[in-house]
Amino acid sequence: MAEPGKTKFQIDLRRYLREQGEDRNLTRVICEIAEASKYIVNSIRTGDLGVAGTSNLYGEQQLALDVLSDRIMRKRLFHSGVIANIVSEETNDIIPVSPDCEGKYSVAYDPLDGSSLVDVNLAVGTIVSIYEGCDLMQPGRNQVAALYILYGPRTTLVYSTGKGVHEFGMNQLMEYNLLRENIQVAPKGSIYSPGGQRNLYTPGTEAFVRELEEKGAKLRYSGGFVPDINQILIKGKGLFLYPHLQGAPDGKLRLLYELNPMAFLMEQAGGAASTGKRRILDLVPENIEQRAPVFIGCKEDVARAEELIAAHG
Ligand code: AHG
Ligand code: MN
Ligand code: MN
Repeated sequence: MAEPGKTKFQIDLRRYLREQGEDRNLTRVICEIAEASKYIVNSIRTGDLGVAGTSNLYGEQQLALDVLSDRIMRKRLFHSGVIANIVSEETNDIIPVSPDCEGKYSVAYDPLDGSSLVDVNLAVGTIVSIYEGCDLMQPGRNQVAALYILYGPRTTLVYSTGKGVHEFGMNQLMEYNLLRENIQVAPKGSIYSPGGQRNLYTPGTEAFVRELEEKGAKLRYSGGFVPDINQILIKGKGLFLYPHLQGAPDGKLRLLYELNPMAFLMEQAGGAASTGKRRILDLVPENIEQRAPVFIGCKEDVARAEELIAAHG
């Protein structure tokens, strides 16, 4: 329970994880990622747009923000001492950190999703998927935790270890304090985020989006996966899609470090995540770059998308 005089909602992330009885090493992984986000948000806010190849006033090679974010994440994860393997959107192979798997965790992450949006000052995020042991090529239903950090007007961290979805906000001292516990989404919603080119939608997807529009659903699409998903979780309603397209049957988003973590969070919040045909969390990854189409959000909306795709392709 909170100390006398301290309201429940001043509980910081590490303390909350401890009170939830989370494994010590998993708590270390999550807190090191929270630590990394402090350096990442600072780089975003102060970086000279992070355009690779330029040099700053000290003549240092200016790193692209996503490369810099990747280095920050890697440094903190190595520092945690409890990591077995890493996969990052910025590297092509699995990065071995320590050979023993016992008590260790493996992490797949997108250090800066939507990095191209920084130049136009839109919100971006870090997305993380966590497995116990060494194996990162497991179906997403085996994740032990998933989280994202959203670098928007405020910096927030949303995580789940399978016991609900909880949101933390970064305060002036760069500590994360609890904002919302057990976030839930309604069975159906009234906002939709249609990714990809509409003229390349297949008939089933087109019928689904048209039906949403005829029901008066409002279009909310920022081009950033993290803010677009966060809006659905915090508003408690909505559906994001980046579907199979004519000429791109697997859509755009990556399974390991974009779809699996967000699907885990959305299911924990009472929502659903599907390729349009199958549950995202049941997909067995064949390679670390694997992409999949995605319909994610309110359960009934996802089910309707699957029906129309089954009927019309
Ligand atoms: P990343 O910047 O890591 O490549 O990811 C960007 C993704 C995701 O954030 C977003 O949902 C999607 O790209 C938007 O794609 P479009 O620009 O094709 O809409
Ligand atoms: Mn990404
Ligand atoms: Mn990225």
